[in-house]
Amino acid sequence: MALYAIGDLHLHFQSVLRAPGQLHGRVWKNHEEKFRKICDKLIKPEDTLVLAGDHSWGKNLSECEKDLEYICGLPGKKILIRGNHDMFWDAKKTNQLNHLYQPKLTFLQDSFETYQDYALTATKGFTFEGPFYLDARGRIIGWDEEAEEHARKLVERELARLRISFEKAKEAGYRKFLMFLHYPPTNILEESSGFTQMAEEYGAEQVIYAHCHGETRFHDSIEGEYHHVVYRLVSGDYLKWNPLRIL
Ligand SMILES: [Fe+2]
Ligand SMILES: [Fe+2]
Repeated sequence: MALYAIGDLHLHFQSVLRAPGQLHGRVWKNHEEKFRKICDKLIKPEDTLVLAGDHSWGKNLSECEKDLEYICGLPGKKILIRGNHDMFWDAKKTNQLNHLYQPKLTFLQDSFETYQDYALTATKGFTFEGPFYLDARGRIIGWDEEAEEHARKLVERELARLRISFEKAKEAGYRKFLMFLHYPPTNILEESSGFTQMAEEYGAEQVIYAHCHGETRFHDSIEGEYHHVVYRLVSGDYLKWNPLRIL
């Protein structure tokens, strides 16, 4: 029995949209097929696979049906976290998605899932990603303060959602936690954040995040151990489509 995670599949079986990096990078060539083959070999029916957001480019559920069907066809229990590109997923209507796709997929929002004696807590998260202003040497000398103020509100909302997830797990008696985010826990300017603090507060053993893809972004946030929490990036192109074993 094993727990795996990966994010940023960015499927587009029905959508013409693709990230600019997706059009050129070799790692994205037939990535759906590569990933399916890897999963079929690696993941057993009793295993769990957490998909850490940015599942589909579709703008609504009908544009995502084939992408979700593809995910349904992967082995193991599939738990999905919301990503910033998952337009088909209204956080307030998560129950409807769960109803529609049960028992094949679990959409995790404002709640928790379990793996052995661990509670898996999750939310999309958020980080301010600029625009930053650079000097001639490429050093950051400022940023869009209005955008940063807006980001602060989104961070607060996501922190509140994450706390609900932790509190529900605690109420149910769980004391061991793995925390999942789509966004990285910190941006390139931060050494800690509300997300790292919450991981420490609840004693999460690991924080698993995605979103940072394309080689220039792989090291935007914390990796490895920091204040007794282990941080792990699981974006699909970073992992070359090999799901990362978490437990
Ligand atoms: Fe992404
Ligand atoms: Fe993303």
